[in-house]
Amino acid sequence: MDTSTTSSLYERARRVIPGGVCSATRLNRALGFPFFASRGEGSRVWDVEGREFVDMCCSHGAALLGHGHPAVGEAVRKAISLGTLCSFETEYHEALARKVCEVIPCAERVRFCSSGSEATLHLIRACRAYTGRDKIIRFEGNFHGYHELIYIGGAPPPPALARNRAHPYVESAGIPDQFAKLIIPIPYNDPEALRGAIADHGDEVALVILEPVVFNCACIKPQPGYLELLRELTQDAGIVLFYDEILSSFKKSIGGVQQDMGVTPDVCTIGKALGGGLPLSAFCGKAEIMDMYRPAGPVQHSGTFNAHLTAVLAGLAFLEEAQKPGFYSHLRELEAQLHAGINRIIEDHDLNMIVPHHGARFDILLGRREPALRYEDTFCHSKETLLKIIKACWQRGVYFHDYGGIPAHHGYSVQHTREDIEKVLSVLEDVLAPLKGQL
Ligand SMILES: Cc1ncc(COP(=O)(O)O)c(C=O)c1O
Repeated sequence: MDTSTTSSLYERARRVIPGGVCSATRLNRALGFPFFASRGEGSRVWDVEGREFVDMCCSHGAALLGHGHPAVGEAVRKAISLGTLCSFETEYHEALARKVCEVIPCAERVRFCSSGSEATLHLIRACRAYTGRDKIIRFEGNFHGYHELIYIGGAPPPPALARNRAHPYVESAGIPDQFAKLIIPIPYNDPEALRGAIADHGDEVALVILEPVVFNCACIKPQPGYLELLRELTQDAGIVLFYDEILSSFKKSIGGVQQDMGVTPDVCTIGKALGGGLPLSAFCGKAEIMDMYRPAGPVQHSGTFNAHLTAVLAGLAFLEEAQKPGFYSHLRELEAQLHAGINRIIEDHDLNMIVPHHGARFDILLGRREPALRYEDTFCHSKETLLKIIKACWQRGVYFHDYGGIPAHHGYSVQHTREDIEKVLSVLEDVLAPLKGQL
């Protein structure tokens, strides 16, 4: 395939942008370059060579409305007509906050910011102030953003796993090791490890943070009773239960995994899809914790661009769309069609893989047919093979993003159609069938 325009753009970008990308994971390692897009519309994206792709990344889950949704366009035009106001409160901020408090089970108060990393950073701070404690229990395989407070102990390379529990693995150069002293990583879905961590450190622990469905690692789901146990143990120990729903919010239902699974945390983050493709995230929870923020309380959270009017109006538009009767029923139909099709391909071609899903997102895990329950269950997965699969799909007009080949998340939008899913299935069958015996 001709990639000459992409290659020369990539080369020029590398002269002025480190690595040629504004976000490290934008390099698609399967392709060897970032997807330089020229435009997007509905379920489709076009590259700078003019080729059209069914988009199965959907902006890492932010484009649940698809690309160029008319309701988002209208919100942006309204923001422009109001002077693209920045750093003011408006009636729309109150309206969006009220809506979030209506639909997210744990939300009694909410604050808005732009990214998921910001949201986890600020909410951790309030949890610490509220409890007067500093430590964080977190789960291996879960991901909560790239900052010093939490980019530690989540994804140690397999040889470092045994050490991770004693010396949490720092996931980026430049993060001082001192931060690792505040992190207690434990395996997910392991009641004894949870009980042990709380028994050993409970009176120093401010929060337990988790992705309740671990989209960043093989879509691991909580075992029956596990969330209930977490709820009970944290409550008894005076620890804040913190769901990071930056990715899982809105994917299966409007209230997130806390609604889907019926266990309500004390606080949570929500994001990605919330802004309809514009930068908007939020953190919310019990009033007594959220009212720790200045000027109501002593915890600082402030920012020039917090809750930019453009994103707030897009957020209102997103929630209005998501509350329309056909929204989740359409996503559910696509989910049923896609996974019936994939399971049929796996069966017919006797493939050693599984595609676990929750709502409009799914992960591809190679090397086993049973769902993973914890991080180390994914070590059977071959990153190289997944990269080959992603490249072969790209060559056939279906875009899957790569996160270094790990079994991370993919997904579709409400503008995807049955025909899009048919195309994805036929490409997947073409690519996967020859891999029998190799996964
Ligand atoms: C669960 C979770 N938390 C936090 C983040 C960080 O969000 P952002 O990339 O918007 O900073 C992500 C991003 O993928 C995420 O999946």
